[in-house]
Amino acid sequence: MKAFEFHNPTKVIFGNGTVSEATGLAVADAGSKVLLVYGKQSIKRNGTYDKVISSLKAAGLTDVVEFSGVKSNPCLSHLKEGVAIAREAAVDVILAVGGGSVMDEAKGIAAGVFYNGDPWDFYSGAAAPEQALPLIVVPTLPATASEMNSGTVITNDVTQEKYGFFSEHLFPKVAVMDPELTHTVPKDYTAYSGVDAISHLIEGYFTGDAKWTPIQDRYVEGLAKTIMEATDRILENPEDNEARSVMMWSATLAWNGLGVSGVGNMGFPNHMIEHPLSGRYDIAHGAGLSIVIPAWMRFVLDRYPEKLARFAREVFGLDSAEEGIDALEAWFKKIKSPTTLAEGGIPAEEIPSIADDAIKLGHLWGISDYTHQDVVCILNSAAK
Ligand code: NZQ
Ligand code: ZN
Repeated sequence: MKAFEFHNPTKVIFGNGTVSEATGLAVADAGSKVLLVYGKQSIKRNGTYDKVISSLKAAGLTDVVEFSGVKSNPCLSHLKEGVAIAREAAVDVILAVGGGSVMDEAKGIAAGVFYNGDPWDFYSGAAAPEQALPLIVVPTLPATASEMNSGTVITNDVTQEKYGFFSEHLFPKVAVMDPELTHTVPKDYTAYSGVDAISHLIEGYFTGDAKWTPIQDRYVEGLAKTIMEATDRILENPEDNEARSVMMWSATLAWNGLGVSGVGNMGFPNHMIEHPLSGRYDIAHGAGLSIVIPAWMRFVLDRYPEKLARFAREVFGLDSAEEGIDALEAWFKKIKSPTTLAEGGIPAEEIPSIADDAIKLGHLWGISDYTHQDVVCILNSAAK
């Protein structure tokens, strides 16, 4: 195990009914002029919006400016609109209610308000935020762990580059996690969420350079099995609140920094290859990952033979690395997440140019152990 620093200041309030009980008080504790950020329709359709507004009112918060329309794979132009509205209204706290896209865009707005340049500078690595507005989040879709991490991912709608960054200023102050809000997540996004949460676990598990990491390994293996079990139960019965609760907390634990503490230097290769897919073709992030992961695992069979064999044994009870990869791919198919570029609607002739984007992103993230040809090879195998 290697040396690490772990700091996660986000307060988590978890449980059925917490959205009504805790949202207003959490926001009031941070400010009085609120920017409420949300997506397209889901929070109005499933009653979450009404619960949030009632909770704000009960806490005496009436100065609320709404900023809606955040799209899945959120884009820079919309984020900039949010910055302008937040400045004009002089809000002093942001409340984000929605999935990872809403939380990520709200983080960009929270930092962008204090920055005179283009907020894209944060994402391209040209600048780093020095401060941000306090952020309270009510996640409605468990997948990204944005509710308890300092990351944000945005697509530049002019260049289609999809970049992300971390900043200590972007941890939400409070995450109000109410599993009942997730009962309406449709089957496709339930599947993509399971894939994304598993992807966050495996990046550090396979690529970390620490030699002996029994804590982190079992953390990952236990959570991966749990996420698969919960996803299966939810797909069987979307109203299964126990499974929704387990999924919600598992997804947070999968990418809140705890699982990678001590694994040493690690890469993020599946995300490096996936971001150009969802950035260019606007597919769900989890759907892009289920296309990339099996192809990537087969490509790194010689790089991480023991770890892949261990994954097969501990997660699936299987004897060989190859069987483990097949089993994971079969599970992706079972939950109906795509496993080929064609299923994701991605043209195979674009592979070299997608690889250009992935390599560029790799440079930004400090990933240097994949050549352009390596990425082409992985994507070619995902094309079959
Ligand atoms: O827009 P609305 O109407 O709200 O609909 C959303 C959206 O269409 C819907 N939805 C959300 N909660 C719902 C619901 N529908 C019914 N009931 C509910 N309770 O689901 C759709 C997808 O939402 P989205 O927020 O896009 O999904 P997700 O949470 O998977 O977020 C994906 C984004 O996060 C980024 C991804 O790249 C992608 O842009 N990521 C962020 C990370 C981070 N901050 O650490 C890490 C990840 O690796 C990832 O890159
Ligand atoms: Zn992800």
